[in-house]
Amino acid sequence: MTAPHNYDHERALWDAFAEHAWKGVAEDEPVFHWTQYKGHGPGPEILGKPESVLEMGHGTGRALAYLAQQGIKGTGVDLSPIAVEQTSKRWGHLGATFVCAEIQDHLVSSTETYDAIYSIFGAAWFTDPEILFPLVAARLSPGGVFAFSQPPAIPGAYGPQGMYKGGFSGPAMFAYRYSYTVDAWADLLGFCGFTDIEVREIDAPKPGHIGTLLGRAMRG
Ligand SMILES: C[S@@+](CC[C@H](N)C(=O)[O-])C[C@H]1O[C@@H](n2cnc3c(N)ncnc32)[C@H](O)[C@@H]1O
Repeated sequence: MTAPHNYDHERALWDAFAEHAWKGVAEDEPVFHWTQYKGHGPGPEILGKPESVLEMGHGTGRALAYLAQQGIKGTGVDLSPIAVEQTSKRWGHLGATFVCAEIQDHLVSSTETYDAIYSIFGAAWFTDPEILFPLVAARLSPGGVFAFSQPPAIPGAYGPQGMYKGGFSGPAMFAYRYSYTVDAWADLLGFCGFTDIEVREIDAPKPGHIGTLLGRAMRG
């Protein structure tokens, strides 16, 4: 089921997020990890050995900057012009390209293909997978890897979920994100023609804390 997205409206939320998020990482070095916990969980090996990658919703751009440092040709796409301006200034010299676009529009209009396409708490969480996944498959090289991470669903709360920015007072900024069970994500990937599908939950470093859902599949 698709939520009634208004990407102009959602852009305002992500611009505000970018302004805030950047303060925390402006001096940080590039780093690539799939979970929300520093130094925890798998790293870029999940992507195989790509020569080219696309990050969907790159935010601070640190993951793409890390791959660019390894000599990988990287493109990041993000809805927020502020995020794109910041990442271009901070990491552009490493060779990565940062594009401001809504990810589905970008995948439809672009003709480029990639060895890996990924999202780390990024656009794969914030767009309808039934629309996004076939677009991703079309832009992957044969045998290319699609991987995404985000928080696991809250039990019983599946499908599109509304999310207000920063509490329940102030400007009504909101976006939609999509939550499903591990098995439902795997079924969706299979339905969209992906192979070698693995979807799992990675436990948090502390028992009882929020884990991470990690999906990985290949273009058949
Ligand atoms: C939670 S942040 C991602 C965090 C990122 N992995 C980082 O380390 O900063 C989500 C990002 O996805 C982007 N985003 C959300 N919906 C999008 C869409 N439909 N198309 C492109 N980017 C989108 C937002 O602008 C935001 O930068």
